[in-house]
Amino acid sequence: MSPSFDYDTVIRNAIIATASDTYHADIGIVAGRIKQIGTGLARGRRDIDAAGRVVTPGGVDAHCHLDQPMAPPVKLSDDFFSGTRSAACGGTTTVVPFAAQVRSENLQTAIDDYHRRASGRACVDYAFHLILTDPRPEILQDLPRLIAAGYTSFKLYMTYDALKLTDGQILDVLDVVRTHGGMPMIHAENADCIAWLTRKLEAAGRTAPRYHATSRPLLVEREAAHRAISLAELVDTPILLVHVSGSEAVDQIRQARAQGLNIYAETCPQYILLTEADLGTDASYFGARCVCSPPPRDKSSHEAIWQGLADGLFSVFSSDHSPFNLTGDDGKAPGGEEVRFRHIPNGIPGIETRLPLLYSEGVLGGRISVNKFVELTATHPARMYGLYPRKGTIAIGSDADLVIWDARNFCLSNDDLHHACDYTPYEGMTLNAWPAMTLLRGEVVWDGKTFSGHAGAGQFIARGLPSIPRVSARAETPTDWRTACQVS
Ligand code: URP
Ligand code: ZN
Ligand code: ZN
Repeated sequence: MSPSFDYDTVIRNAIIATASDTYHADIGIVAGRIKQIGTGLARGRRDIDAAGRVVTPGGVDAHCHLDQPMAPPVKLSDDFFSGTRSAACGGTTTVVPFAAQVRSENLQTAIDDYHRRASGRACVDYAFHLILTDPRPEILQDLPRLIAAGYTSFKLYMTYDALKLTDGQILDVLDVVRTHGGMPMIHAENADCIAWLTRKLEAAGRTAPRYHATSRPLLVEREAAHRAISLAELVDTPILLVHVSGSEAVDQIRQARAQGLNIYAETCPQYILLTEADLGTDASYFGARCVCSPPPRDKSSHEAIWQGLADGLFSVFSSDHSPFNLTGDDGKAPGGEEVRFRHIPNGIPGIETRLPLLYSEGVLGGRISVNKFVELTATHPARMYGLYPRKGTIAIGSDADLVIWDARNFCLSNDDLHHACDYTPYEGMTLNAWPAMTLLRGEVVWDGKTFSGHAGAGQFIARGLPSIPRVSARAETPTDWRTACQVS
């Protein structure tokens, strides 16, 4: 007679780390969910010994770009298969990439298109943020339906000609989201300043990748962050500023929060680990590998970002994975390596390295606790984007998305990664940790050496509303205009 088991899998002797606690226990898994947490659990069909190892929730990468169409010949190197395979091998079990509206089209068209791209391809669970590029009245009217259908976050750009919204358009979107819920995500950079500086630099013959950073100084981000915060204050609704890079934008967010405004913020590995120097010298195309927006900053901004990670200014630590190959015509050098910086596609790969970099540099480097690590990489992203408590924590009833950590000292090489990009900006860096195992809904998808997941294993998740206060804590809110606008 075959023995019967209480659990499909038991992770035994784990050092469980959540956003709030660290403790020793076993985790019993049934049908992809956590059924029991305790000591001395009965045997599972499979027992995994995690003695001496930290176990965290699977990462939630709330900012990544997969198979997002670009202007030809440029192409993202990762689709939903290679991008999510890479995510799993780096400990991420849920991704929230973007479905981008093509101007003049409707949002449902974008959603249908991205479902086609992801379905049967994704190896980890996924949802979509919507990029709004054309919030005309019928699009705004459609937002409540889409929010109810689980598309509860919207990225709004203040820069890039094909994507940017006017302040008035941003106010329109914020006003709808205030009424119906959801999370507006804002890319804050001043488009006119960038365009003006780019023209000046080109006129002076300064076109190498390094001048990408010169065209986007700290104030470009600071001014736009201040403006985005003001727009949110006027409407009295929360916003989340994505990929915050510079100390001056950090100051703006700090001031806003000190006033009781619900301003949330995200940052990424590149803003604590890369500097402007990584964009190279005048003669070098190689710096194109680190061209992203906002650009990498300096050590003093790194310190401001680390401080914000440690003290709760930042809620979310994402990859902003946006991978383009360094070689070939469809990547960083459309038309060849003499490419002017304005034509280098913005973005760098990082979906697989996000968690190990923060674990290594942050937790093992003594800058943040393991609980803060979990909060930033899983719990808060899940809460901000309506995935909690199914995702982002280790709790009875939650999906059994888990990472068992290995203290492993090694030199990072792109050959070890599982994305389809021909480089990593962190090549040669020494890391002290990597996932020994990743489980997606109870199934091992990475065992520390080999990817064992498969295309189509990832499920689409219709998301709920963010678990955050919607009304600011300010004593006075500028709502007089609402009263004045009420039609009697
Ligand atoms: O350079 C970046 N960040 N590329 C990705 C697109 C975006 O704005 O997040
Ligand atoms: Zn952006
Ligand atoms: Zn992005």
